[in-house]
Amino acid sequence: MNVTVSRNGPYIVTGSVPLRTMEICNDAEGNCRTWKTVHEFPLQEQYALCRCGHSKNKPFCDGTHAKIHFDGTETAGNEAYLRHPDSIEGEELRLEDVGNLCVHARFCMRAGGIWNLTRNSGIPEARDTAIEEACNCPSGRLVVRDRKSGRAIEPELEKSIVLIEYPARHEHGPLWVRGGIPVVSADGESYEVRNRVTLCRCGKSGNKPFCDGSHIRP
Ligand code: FES
Repeated sequence: MNVTVSRNGPYIVTGSVPLRTMEICNDAEGNCRTWKTVHEFPLQEQYALCRCGHSKNKPFCDGTHAKIHFDGTETAGNEAYLRHPDSIEGEELRLEDVGNLCVHARFCMRAGGIWNLTRNSGIPEARDTAIEEACNCPSGRLVVRDRKSGRAIEPELEKSIVLIEYPARHEHGPLWVRGGIPVVSADGESYEVRNRVTLCRCGKSGNKPFCDGSHIRP
């Protein structure tokens, strides 16, 4: 399985990668809390996903990128994502945070926010909530580690691609590439393989091919 970024064109997905749409659901207090699968696409060995944001056959590419002269230049660079994270330490957990990978999924804001929860991770409930919030962060912006072992605490994710939707805010989020599927640049270089990454599908990101949250800009 892999995802190849084509130059100024779509993502070419190969290897029968499952594709589905999932929605972010709020709890009774209005916090982002859970995921709900709302659509499964028929399995295809290969398919092309729009990354310019203008296809009339979304999520698939219909060739519009060529008509609009889409500039899909990859600007992310090939540094390891967590090379320069902000870091917060609590008694039990360390939180690593790479702010420019934020996709505004907002799972991290509940119960005082993951930053405070990490500082208070000596309290079991705070520790558990911090882990839950980090594991729901689709982009992998937020990674929590067990402080004693240094081990990253990661969710188990099926190799798949998810179209993220957030109906409560009418937001159409990025493509969530899950389970360690390699993403290969148009130059043929593989980006760091991670359990959770999110790819731009609106064409506006300043950190292509990754989402930087620009889809919420008017
Ligand atoms: S990338 Fe082809 S239509 Fe958007």
